[in-house]
Amino acid sequence: MPDYIVTNLKDNTTLPDVDKAPLIMDVEFLETEENIDIPILDSFEEVHTSKKYAAVELPKSLSSPKERARIVTVINQKGGVGKTTTVINIAAQLALRGHNILVIDSDSQGNCATGLGVDKSKVRETTRDLILNPETAISARHATAVDKLHLIVGDKNLIGLEQEMLRQLGREKRLSEALEPLLPHYDIILIDTPPSLGLVTINALVASDGLIIPVQTEYFALEGLALMSGTIREVRNLLNPRLGVDGVILTMHSPTTLNQQVANEIIDYFPELIVKPAVRRNIKLAEAPSHGIPIHLYDPKSAGGKDYQEIASVLSRRWSLI
Ligand SMILES: Nc1ncnc2c1ncn2[C@@H]1O[C@H](COP(=O)(O)OP(=O)(O)OP(=O)(O)O)[C@@H](O)[C@H]1O
Ligand SMILES: [Mg+2]
Repeated sequence: MPDYIVTNLKDNTTLPDVDKAPLIMDVEFLETEENIDIPILDSFEEVHTSKKYAAVELPKSLSSPKERARIVTVINQKGGVGKTTTVINIAAQLALRGHNILVIDSDSQGNCATGLGVDKSKVRETTRDLILNPETAISARHATAVDKLHLIVGDKNLIGLEQEMLRQLGREKRLSEALEPLLPHYDIILIDTPPSLGLVTINALVASDGLIIPVQTEYFALEGLALMSGTIREVRNLLNPRLGVDGVILTMHSPTTLNQQVANEIIDYFPELIVKPAVRRNIKLAEAPSHGIPIHLYDPKSAGGKDYQEIASVLSRRWSLI
């Protein structure tokens, strides 16, 4: 044995012998034909059957008192489905109609600021401050490109917030408590969320009266909704029993057979929750944020402008704004 092994061992003892496993050597491999009985099922009756997406349930929301803002979170754990575009354009459309609207961006990508013409580099207090220090609720609000539409900016400082919140008591209710003093001053508070289910998103769900779920009419749409359904069920059971869905909005819709099939399937599942029309895929909706303005200031007559106008009308009725 080499010296270095011996000196590394306690009391200079040597390792006990390893167990000797029998080695396979010189085995003759014979090909034998065995008659294995494979049971033949008479029918498939014993196999579990489950209705496709049977668990996808989206509870309808309840109305909220007229004298305070309704808090609505726009959410889908699936990324890139049009959450931020929906927040910006519904908020802007309602503000242009004279309602007082506050948008809270809880996504570290901070796209609401860009889309509403707010320069993030000049902002001192953000959604992070709102959650950590509720007393910043008043001062963290910023004016936007649209009159009557205010924004609390989300930015990269939200990254890491979840870790900090883990140490806090009542960590799921921070946003709900922080928004309390703002409620009498707005008609609608719209919260944009990231495509993930962290503590900040849970805070948004706990604070909310209703949810808007944008769904892209693509193949995996129902899987996304199944995920959302589970999340809503858990939050209702544990943290916010009044949480429900205000509407499902079909987004980036093209007149292809697949898009149409998916749209029909979702409409069949949630006929009462669908907010019509579907938002058509429209390049103007993608261009508007680069100018820092919503579609209704950029090109109100575009397909996207018209679709979001009609959607805002449907939601205004659901939210008793008119
Ligand atoms: N109807 C539409 N037609 C064309 N482009 C659209 C439409 N809606 C959204 N977009 C574009 O698609 C991209 C994704 O949209 P958006 O950022 O609103 O999705 P999101 O769900 O907020 O994404 P994330 O999950 O990353 O937050 C953006 O570039 C946006 O401009
Ligand atoms: Mg987004």
